[in-house]
Amino acid sequence: MNTLSCLALSIFLLSIIFTRYRKNLSSLCRTKHAQEPGCNDLKKMAPYPAQPIKGRERYRVMMDVRKLDVENWLTVDKNYMDEHEVRSQLLETEKSKVLQCLPESYDACLEALEEVVEFLCQRFSNVFEQKKCGDETTVHNKMTGETFCFGGKNKDVDPLEIAVRLTMEDLSILMKNEEDEYYLAASASLFPVGWTVQDRIGWTISKLHNPVPLWHQQVANSVSKFLARLTPASPMERSNYFVEVKRPDEDLFEILYRPTSLSEENPDPTPQDIVIRRERQTFRRLPRTGALVFGVKTILTTLDELPMQELQNLAKEIRSWPEYVGEYKGREVWGPKALEYCEKKSRMYQQDPEKMMV
Ligand code: HEM
Repeated sequence: MNTLSCLALSIFLLSIIFTRYRKNLSSLCRTKHAQEPGCNDLKKMAPYPAQPIKGRERYRVMMDVRKLDVENWLTVDKNYMDEHEVRSQLLETEKSKVLQCLPESYDACLEALEEVVEFLCQRFSNVFEQKKCGDETTVHNKMTGETFCFGGKNKDVDPLEIAVRLTMEDLSILMKNEEDEYYLAASASLFPVGWTVQDRIGWTISKLHNPVPLWHQQVANSVSKFLARLTPASPMERSNYFVEVKRPDEDLFEILYRPTSLSEENPDPTPQDIVIRRERQTFRRLPRTGALVFGVKTILTTLDELPMQELQNLAKEIRSWPEYVGEYKGREVWGPKALEYCEKKSRMYQQDPEKMMV
């Protein structure tokens, strides 16, 4: 090959590389732009999709953890303002039931807040803004108009309270006790199911799960190992669901805040009154203090909103639970009605699948 053709070939190759690079760069910019929705876009954004119900044939308590989708550690969606109102009301009227921080957890709570603010200001930069001045930080939420100050001398408000006033997720801090067991050192659990942090603050993971059937036989050891092995670079997530019944007139506050019972008085629930309450749980180790942050996003779907496949999977799982598991999960309250609905929908689907897809 002579010098001229060598030169021509090099120019040709360089132009290909340059075109590719420009394409990648512009798609990167587009992605970055698409990842930073404004307040109005967020008001229309669907919640982060919940894990579908799998339809397991046999009941087992499982960890079923997967790598955290780090881009979406915390989420903001169209329900933000409605849920924010409930969260503010709870922190106003039920504070000690939904927020408890043991004194030794202060540094970890502050670190968790710093991580939350850093994340929200990067991921949703059109909504959250921070300004740092020495060791003080001010964070402003453009959607709610609220501003919070933390760090330095600002010690009046618990850092975890500020964090959950910004997020849609409930947040807890787990620390190790002298026996090397993780315990609930701080928690802002505003949307609990059948428990309050006031009763359970300081409890170990093992004690917290005492009521869960087969916890100790099937999963306790794996959970301890899993928590011990988490590193700041290996955050994880898992999903869980409960089924509950609401009254037709129940408002969002009462549905989300369930400190005592899973199911309200409603002897004859319709498919719209049966709620599939899913939790997306995230686990992160904080790099500075070494504590764990446990996040829980609650997603509500009524039975009639479930797609056909998931409805059938749910029916399969409900039927697979042994008696004592069914009892723990409150199956006697909603089970017969839910199964009746699943069977009816399945029959209709078999008769006319196309109509059911509409
Ligand atoms: C990998 C870790 C974890 C696993 C596998 C796990 C699993 C479970 C399961 C299967 C249930 C029963 C839910 C049902 O009825 O379907 C449950 C309940 C519960 N979990 Fe966890 N969990 C984990 C971590 C945590 C953490 C970190 C906390 C700390 C707040 C927590 C607090 C609770 C509470 C309070 C309940 C309700 C227990 C009751 O019935 O009174 N869990 N968990």
